[in-house]
Amino acid sequence: MLFPGTFDPFTRGHRDIARRASRLCDKLVIAVMENANKNPMFTPDERVDLIERSIAGEDLQNVEVMHWDGLLVELYRQLGCCACVRGIRSESDFRYEAELALANRLLYPDYDAILLPCRDDLSLISSSIVKEVGYYGGDISKMVPAEIIDTVNAKLMKGRQQ
Ligand code: COA
Repeated sequence: MLFPGTFDPFTRGHRDIARRASRLCDKLVIAVMENANKNPMFTPDERVDLIERSIAGEDLQNVEVMHWDGLLVELYRQLGCCACVRGIRSESDFRYEAELALANRLLYPDYDAILLPCRDDLSLISSSIVKEVGYYGGDISKMVPAEIIDTVNAKLMKGRQQ
């Protein structure tokens, strides 16, 4: 199963989805991807590293992290995936995911998606909110995994000084 996203940066909400999805399949590939409408702050290598460190302490033997700069369905096809998993925080997420799934199915008819509802206490987190709060020196500890707080803060501080 594939868990694609921009992950700029990975959040506690993303980790919760990864944890739960890993129990639903033999192998979960978390793929750091590019969204044409976004201009990520973290490089692809940094995003992969943040995810690997976030899940290192978990018992997630069947999870792998990679970067992919191409069409989602192409990676899906190459890996022989059974589905993509995505977290749903709200009704608007559902609409967006339904559109994404439809577009991907037009490109690759075997494409399928599994939408997991987010945990209530994590449902208002987004990568943008993490960046906004961290940029102004706010506490992001409830939003991102403890293992990556310092790295995320350091990058946001550097961005502020430039
Ligand atoms: N917890 C916290 N935040 C969550 C979340 C969760 N469980 N689930 C989603 N989010 C947030 C993310 O943090 C992100 O927030 P942001 O907008 O502030 O950055 C937002 O919801 C959704 O982003 P993300 O899950 O990272 O994916 P995306 O929508 O940016 O990207 C891709 C989707 C990468 C899968 C899509 O752009 C893609 O497929 N790209 C490859 C090219 C391609 O094939 N395009 C055609 C697609 S039809």
